[in-house]
Amino acid sequence: MTDLDPTSASITPAASQGTKETLRYLNWLFNPFQRLEVPALYDLLSTRAATERALYLNLGFWQDATDLDSASEALADLLADAVHLAPGDQLLDVGYGFADQDLRWAEHYQPAQIIGLNLTQSQVEVARQRVAERGLSEQIDLRLGSATAMDLPDESVDKLIALECAFHFRSREQFLREAFRVLRPGGRIAIADILPRPAQGSAWQRFKRKTSWGLVAAKFSIPWDNAYPIPTYHAKLKLGGYEQINIESIRDQVYAPLHQWLCAHRSALQRLHPAAGFAAKLALRRDPETLFAGLDYVLATAVKPMRLVR
Ligand SMILES: C[S@@+](CC[C@H](N)C(=O)[O-])C[C@H]1O[C@@H](n2cnc3c(N)ncnc32)[C@H](O)[C@@H]1O
Repeated sequence: MTDLDPTSASITPAASQGTKETLRYLNWLFNPFQRLEVPALYDLLSTRAATERALYLNLGFWQDATDLDSASEALADLLADAVHLAPGDQLLDVGYGFADQDLRWAEHYQPAQIIGLNLTQSQVEVARQRVAERGLSEQIDLRLGSATAMDLPDESVDKLIALECAFHFRSREQFLREAFRVLRPGGRIAIADILPRPAQGSAWQRFKRKTSWGLVAAKFSIPWDNAYPIPTYHAKLKLGGYEQINIESIRDQVYAPLHQWLCAHRSALQRLHPAAGFAAKLALRRDPETLFAGLDYVLATAVKPMRLVR
């Protein structure tokens, strides 16, 4: 059945739904005053991920990856390795999207249990369905909930991962407090996160950095509270009581290779809504240095001390 019924002069409901969705996309993408809250943003993006075999929503770690799916998996593995994920662990995954990384970790790292918290109801439903289809609902417990107000007891998880989501949280600092509370002493946290780069260099370079960060922050629901560079991030983890803190920029293995791959594989953009695909093609005309000038991408890791100093 097509959207347009040839026997009718009027547009069918399906077609008018499609038109409404396109208008919502155009409003989000091109109206500078339109900002969406997290659930509205991900409701709009829906399951139209650019990955082919999965529904990952991250930019990927491209060191050895050859496509977006393998880059997304490599980023998931990087975080699992960073927390030393091991058989028997209780893992908390915040901002789990459609739970692809949970399915992968369950298979490759065999934690005893994964609890997921996600703020977007529509994703929770799809993710639960996918986990149930693989018979893993016992092991992967996907919940609707916020990373900034976790409905979990103190000291109840061994490892905590935030895969490309903490920049959204209101605020990241509140999340770090909650993470510290629910981690057991000796527990590890790993975060793949997007930060602004400090505005430095010539006036033109500063302008490029501010513009690229400003656009991404406005369109992808990043609150002002989370806009600080690596040294401030480090200080917040330290003030929060964490130790063995390490924050490493991995931006060279994220933005430029993703840009290069998308330029060479524009068909991947056809998996997005046509309006989003169009905007992405426009963006890809810019060189990666300009497009991502203001964006850092970090892997942050830390440990909750075994003995708390009060
Ligand atoms: C860019 S997506 C990443 C999804 C997934 N980790 C992946 O790599 O495919 C960001 C995710 O963070 C979730 N999110 C944003 N704010 C949240 C919050 N306060 N608490 C829990 N989840 C949140 C969104 O619903 C979305 O699933």
